[in-house]
Amino acid sequence: MLYETVIAQAGLADKAGKNRWPARLDILQSSTGLFLALFMWGHMAFVASILFGESAMWAITKFFEGYFVFGASHPWLVSCVVGFVALVFVVHAFLAVRKFPINYRQFRIIFAHSRAMRHEDTTLWLWQAGTGFLLFFFASAHLYQMFVWPQNIGPYASSDRMWSDGLWPFYLTLLLAVELHGGIGLYRLAVKWGWPNASREALKILKWVLTAFFLVLGLATLGAYMKIGYAHRAHYGERYTPDWVTERLPDVQQEDAR
Ligand code: HEM
Repeated sequence: MLYETVIAQAGLADKAGKNRWPARLDILQSSTGLFLALFMWGHMAFVASILFGESAMWAITKFFEGYFVFGASHPWLVSCVVGFVALVFVVHAFLAVRKFPINYRQFRIIFAHSRAMRHEDTTLWLWQAGTGFLLFFFASAHLYQMFVWPQNIGPYASSDRMWSDGLWPFYLTLLLAVELHGGIGLYRLAVKWGWPNASREALKILKWVLTAFFLVLGLATLGAYMKIGYAHRAHYGERYTPDWVTERLPDVQQEDAR
């Protein structure tokens, strides 16, 4: 029988029991990927608050620093969230490495297969592996910065980082890599686990719609930070405080001045 032949060829004919670990690791890879993709949707919403103006992003930043609960800013709260996200990211990346081609021969085989087959899903897999590889470096650097200097997040601090610190090419690369990677990843999850139960064609259209939406939103957000950063370049390092806070809550100003 075909099934027995395949098992024998894989050298598993004499195995007493089935090894469930590959399946478990696959579930862990899928669930960490799903968490990170959903986190990125939320992350984009928070970061894009700058499109509604400096004070909107300021309020979101202060919310995550616990200001509206404790009456004072605690940036270490942000570090805790970053630490958790970084942990999930590391687990996801560790599990993904299993599937990378690991030597020149394997590279040649996968590229030759993808060229010969012209199978869209195989090509998409290559894009996902390539963008995932980029994320090892770019996402790690971003997470490190957010973890170590959470107090440097805000309408002016973030915009200064983009413009005066010259990090906008870094963020542009990160944005392209993460949106392509996340979009393809979600599509592959849907095909693999059968939810939502739709044809591949329909899922692919949904994938491109979502990717286009987040790319446009991301580029507009990046543009907004760069514009504010450019206008603010002569006051590099100065923090934003909304007028109503200056008048009514002077302690926040002291917080920001530190
Ligand atoms: C809890 C963890 C995270 C926090 C607190 C955070 C925070 C931020 C902040 C404040 C910005 C605005 C720019 C700046 O201040 O530097 C930003 C931008 C960005 N972050 Fe994150 N981030 C986190 C995790 C991630 C992860 C895991 C990724 C991707 C793997 C990511 C991708 C991006 C991208 C692409 C941008 C640019 C968005 C745009 O300009 O459209 N972030 N992040």
